[in-house]
Amino acid sequence: MTATAEKTVVPVPKVRQTKMLIGGQWRDAQSGKTFETVNPATEQVIANIAEGDSADVDLAVKAARKAFDEGPWSRMDARDRGKLINKLADLIEQNFDELSALETLDNGKPIKDARAADFPLVIDCLRYYAGWADKIHGDTIPIRGNYFCYTRREPTGVCGQIIPWNFPALMVAWKWGPALAAGCTIVMKPAEQTPLSCLRMAELALEAGIPEGVINVVPGYGPTAGAALVKHPGVDKIAFTGEHRTAQIIMAEAATTLKRLTFELGGKSPNVVFADSNIDAAVAGAEFGLFFNQGQCCCAGSRVFVEEKVKAEFVEKITARAKTRKLGNPFDTSTSQGPQVDQAQFDKILSYIEKGKNAGAKCVTGGKRFGEKGFFVEPTIFDNVTDEMPIATDEIFGPVMSVLSFKDLDEIIARSNDTCYGLAAAVWTRDVAKAHRYAKSVRAGTVWVNCYDVFDAAAPFGGFKMSGMGRELGAAALNNYTELKTVTVSLD
Ligand code: NAI
Ligand code: MG
Repeated sequence: MTATAEKTVVPVPKVRQTKMLIGGQWRDAQSGKTFETVNPATEQVIANIAEGDSADVDLAVKAARKAFDEGPWSRMDARDRGKLINKLADLIEQNFDELSALETLDNGKPIKDARAADFPLVIDCLRYYAGWADKIHGDTIPIRGNYFCYTRREPTGVCGQIIPWNFPALMVAWKWGPALAAGCTIVMKPAEQTPLSCLRMAELALEAGIPEGVINVVPGYGPTAGAALVKHPGVDKIAFTGEHRTAQIIMAEAATTLKRLTFELGGKSPNVVFADSNIDAAVAGAEFGLFFNQGQCCCAGSRVFVEEKVKAEFVEKITARAKTRKLGNPFDTSTSQGPQVDQAQFDKILSYIEKGKNAGAKCVTGGKRFGEKGFFVEPTIFDNVTDEMPIATDEIFGPVMSVLSFKDLDEIIARSNDTCYGLAAAVWTRDVAKAHRYAKSVRAGTVWVNCYDVFDAAAPFGGFKMSGMGRELGAAALNNYTELKTVTVSLD
């Protein structure tokens, strides 16, 4: 490591905001209830957070409706909206250290990752959409007859946004960015495990001058606060990221009011390593693609398919790398793996490790809890995994890699696609034609060639099949937050 003046262990930040934001006011829940948010590295309670339910959601939706229907948001010049989104990005940048530490405290992710990945991407995403605010426009259309026909792209309205805990602040940016650029107003429900960075970002949004009622935040649980948002007739659209089973509930409940829906869900993404690849690069990519963020990534490369003739070499190298991962205090800048987010995820992961062992896969490293306190799981690798084992079919959402072997391209295309998911895939090869044939044939929303987890605010992201509906990021996400209006004018 290079010597810097910085301390190796970053101080634990102060929690400034634990209430909910409705119509520009920070308030307690109507019921007076609170819930605990826990530090997953120590299992200690960090703070008590206002626990919203349907009564609070109703107030928040009314505030968002008012800001949308009466202005000033919907009447503001698009360019001025863009300026305010940029101002929010500036304030996040100015509070970068505090926000990164808050994310580490609430989620458990290593401070190194919060600083190198989450918050740079948050800032980029908001700036990218700030730039879109005054570039969302329609077409003129040459229809038959003496008419002038044009389209307008108008904001969808009040958007309910329900997000998970794996990238708490980044999910805020992915949701707020395009919604604000389009001129929508927002009621957000952060994940009950990780409300802190969202609340702090909402404070900064107010400070930036984003008018009251444009962004409302109601922390709480899914079946209460989340479900109330989904059912509320005043909400025009729901954007959800999380588990596909939750999306199925949301889709059924949103049917009554026919809300617009976009979903970003899970996956069991194939990461395919051919013998003609740069094996060391593929090993590094496989490590990052699976273990990054404690394996809690929707696009985690959790099915690692390695061409038979290099599998032994691959397993030896990936095992050696997994063993060098440094688990421990996530505030230590040298830590590369923190705890899982909560007891439920921790238990789920350990139960899948047992299923892997029982199914006859070979656990070559890891396979148990790390330490006695905190939800840490050792980086775990299973060799000799076969397609039908639960560790090869189910989303584990933890640091558990399954290595499978294959012989040729057509076989691996079929096996890659033999899943209900289709979020991401990666292929490692020096053969350009093989790479593109794979990229064309795999049924997934994102394909990485000789890389993994390369994200950019400008590049669309989302799933085929049960991995999602609609695309986030890029110009594509603006469609999620706009309605198309056709205007026809008689020229007679
Ligand atoms: P979840 O889908 O239950 O939670 C995500 C969000 O949805 C949270 O804000 C939650 O409060 C809310 N929610 C839950 N039930 C709801 C309902 N009935 N109506 C409205 N909102 C609701 O995911 P959970 O339970 O945290 O994790 C379970 C599994 O889901 C994980 O083990 C992982 O496999 C997967 N997951 C995938 C994510 C992704 O990025 N694709 C993110 C988080 C979890
Ligand atoms: Mg759940």
